[in-house]
Amino acid sequence: MRYKWGREVDLVLQTLDLPQEARILDLCCRQGRHALEFAKRGYQVVGLDLSETLLRHARKQAKEQNLPVEFVHSDMRRIPFEEEFDAVVNLFTAFGYLEEDEEDEKVIRAVAKTLKTEGKFLIDLPNHERLMRDFSPNYFTESPDGSLMLVEGSFDVLSDRLKTRWLLIDKSGKRRERISIQRLYTFTELHKMLKSIGFQVKQVFGGFDGSEYKMDSKRMIVLAEKPIN
Ligand SMILES: C[S@@+](CC[C@H](N)C(=O)[O-])C[C@H]1O[C@@H](n2cnc3c(N)ncnc32)[C@H](O)[C@@H]1O
Repeated sequence: MRYKWGREVDLVLQTLDLPQEARILDLCCRQGRHALEFAKRGYQVVGLDLSETLLRHARKQAKEQNLPVEFVHSDMRRIPFEEEFDAVVNLFTAFGYLEEDEEDEKVIRAVAKTLKTEGKFLIDLPNHERLMRDFSPNYFTESPDGSLMLVEGSFDVLSDRLKTRWLLIDKSGKRRERISIQRLYTFTELHKMLKSIGFQVKQVFGGFDGSEYKMDSKRMIVLAEKPIN
């Protein structure tokens, strides 16, 4: 059985419509779950992330599965390749964690620089509109093993930033906590940013099933292209 993200990768590749020898950059790859799937399908893949710990895990998996993926430690604003890739993917909400919108713009500039002419950029984010409509600041989930996940959210309307605090309490009562602050972009804001940097927005989907992007969509998946100069 293929993992769920194996199916995601099928849909990403269908959307990107790349030649078989294409080079793909998985920007903010975490432990490489998508990068490894791209490599299994024969593409040349680089995964980039800021976390050495996650990259170590990714390299270990690539070695165990005998997959030739290069994993690079870098900040997403400083991608150390020029006009190298046929496609850059940024999947599962890996954009908007930087402190200012100008820093997010630097990421898009770096993506433009690293892509070949007519290279494709696919970015997958939560749907701002649905999140706002259904915003529930606090909720919890309970796993079959008895562990609890408590989530506390707050949204700053002045900066369009969502602050989320996750508290995980395992069955022995041990606690772990994580906080994230994320800028949530609307489609029009992201479109404007991509266009200002020279990208052409080609398509937007509401999910990895290729559905139309609308108010109810869970995701906002945008496909943009670096035009011929
Ligand atoms: C939500 S996860 C990415 C998910 C991954 N694409 C996936 O689908 O599994 C966000 C990732 O971004 C990485 N990250 C955060 N800030 C970064 C930065 N400034 N440059 C590069 N990677 C960064 C984190 O280490 C983390 O692996």
